[in-house]
Amino acid sequence: MKEEGIELIKDGKRLDGRGFEELRPMKIEVGVLKRADGSCYFEIGNNKALAAVYGPREMHPRHLQNAKTAVVTYRYNMAPFSVDDRKRPGPDRRSVEISKVSRDALDPVILTEYYPKTAIDIYVELLQSDAGTRTAGINAASVALADAGIPMRDIVSSVAVGKIDGEVVLDLNAAEDNHGEADMPMAMVTRTGTITMLQMDGRLTKDEFERGLKLATNACREIYELQRTALIEKYSESVGGGEE
Ligand code: CDP
Repeated sequence: MKEEGIELIKDGKRLDGRGFEELRPMKIEVGVLKRADGSCYFEIGNNKALAAVYGPREMHPRHLQNAKTAVVTYRYNMAPFSVDDRKRPGPDRRSVEISKVSRDALDPVILTEYYPKTAIDIYVELLQSDAGTRTAGINAASVALADAGIPMRDIVSSVAVGKIDGEVVLDLNAAEDNHGEADMPMAMVTRTGTITMLQMDGRLTKDEFERGLKLATNACREIYELQRTALIEKYSESVGGGEE
């Protein structure tokens, strides 16, 4: 968004060969961590995100408990080796902001009222980053919550749209994010169309915003199908395993 001077579209294609409305290839795996109550590995292009969910468990310190609901916490962390220039380990302003918006993106679908005085802790680790890490983290966390058996209204799916060389495109990579004109990450409950996160870095016209929203909505449906299928596959395997 800040730097300029790179041609991001050539002969109607993006630098990585994608069309404007194309997602990067995705891979998803459920239940990859034995110690977590629920977990998920989610890959999109060069982003590799791992989510672990613990809980509902007793909330400590107790003065942070909510007598009526579970408290959902979310920690987004980018590994120092996940980016080109080593990232200084530990929390920074960016990760605090991403943790907050990601928590808020998932909280509305979790039936927190079932588990008063408890904590549901979500940890997201980025092992490799190439723009769109907050959205990759939300996709992973959403599946990890379901894997933990936490009652939810639905799964949240998430993707970014943006503008590069004057075109509205889906799912920006790092070069597009750095040299493009706008980046708009969003998260939604695809079945109802409820948007639980919407951010914008840069500028879009109203028309571009509407086109971007449509692109992101369709992409979230695609991601949702992948999330759903991965969960169904894991749990039909478990049932199959029990019969042997
Ligand atoms: O990752 P996301 O698009 O959600 O957030 P961002 O703040 O727009 O970051 C975009 C990308 O910049 C990241 O995914 C990384 O590839 C890169 N980045 C980096 O190289 N070093 C950092 N300290 C932070 C971000």
